[in-house]
Amino acid sequence: MTPPDHSQTLLLLPGDGIGPEVIQQARRIAEAVAPDLNIEEGLIGGVSFDHHGDPLTTQTLERAKSADAILMGAVGGPQWDRTPRDKRPEAGLLALRKGLDVYANLRPAFCFPALASSSALKSELVEGLDIVIVRELTSGVYFGQPRGIERLPDGRRRGFDTQSYTSDEIRRVARVAFELARGRRGKGGKFGGVLSCEKANVMESGVLWREEVTSLHSESFGDVQLDHMYADACAMHLVKAPKDINVILADNLFGDILSDEASMLTGSIGMLPSAALGDPGVPGLYEPVHGSAPDIAGQGIANPCAAILSLEMAMRWSLKRPDAAERIWQAVDRALEDGYRTRDLGGLHSTHDMGTAILDRL
Ligand code: IPM
Ligand code: MG
Repeated sequence: MTPPDHSQTLLLLPGDGIGPEVIQQARRIAEAVAPDLNIEEGLIGGVSFDHHGDPLTTQTLERAKSADAILMGAVGGPQWDRTPRDKRPEAGLLALRKGLDVYANLRPAFCFPALASSSALKSELVEGLDIVIVRELTSGVYFGQPRGIERLPDGRRRGFDTQSYTSDEIRRVARVAFELARGRRGKGGKFGGVLSCEKANVMESGVLWREEVTSLHSESFGDVQLDHMYADACAMHLVKAPKDINVILADNLFGDILSDEASMLTGSIGMLPSAALGDPGVPGLYEPVHGSAPDIAGQGIANPCAAILSLEMAMRWSLKRPDAAERIWQAVDRALEDGYRTRDLGGLHSTHDMGTAILDRL
């Protein structure tokens, strides 16, 4: 292993709910595979609101911008349900994504062989499954203006959001998907390249999405297969024949929904990591796809694999330590092979047991 030539900083933002429990295990792994790494911690989400009155302070955002990679746990919980929207834990996460401009969210749905029987689908449908969802992360209906809840003259109330995409926002995330698919030749079946999803049948932004993806493809990625599918049909195909698919490209909202669906193919949402990437030089933001799971928080039973695999992605994509990444991946695989299972996977091992099992197999 060749360590990088400058000292790198990994900023941990454990957040709320099970976030601190799973990030604690990821930290043990990080210290073992990269002892020279400068590991720092900060607050995000509800805990940050409780301490500072803000789910993401300017200071934390600045620290994130100057780190090499950020590993986040999860945000949110019922105790902040009545907090004003712009101060809610989720607002902190959205501000972090937007502030870093990490527009391309890579969400791999990979089925570890030992978990094929834990899937909600028949094991033959998911054995060998290896999909990546590329979700646009900093635009669309999550950020579009205007939005709000207004009172109409007749007393009724009206809630509204704006789904909006510009051509450059579509193209920059589509480029990431095409480049990724180029490096993943041979995966997937019928849709072995990029499968771009929208609802061009009912949405203007969907029409633009399809046009821009198509023109970028013909300009620069003629060698990569491109297919288009309506997002609802894609949701169906994901449970009908998921192994047909290699790379899914979707907007912020469809990508959010399709990635939760894809997670259940892999055995548990507790297994799914993600990487949010921006332009070169921007630190990547890594987070497990699962949320803060307030119902099981504090019990020490959450699955730390998604957080540990998010660390694996950070080692690979931002910290440029492919050897460390490979060690983590193999260790998770072996721990699962050896029968370690948290509750979500039908076992009885604690968060800490699972962390230790992976640590022992590095
Ligand atoms: C996700 C989550 C977030 C999202 C929430 C917590 C704001 O569901 O990362 O998938 O909707 O993006
Ligand atoms: Mg989600």
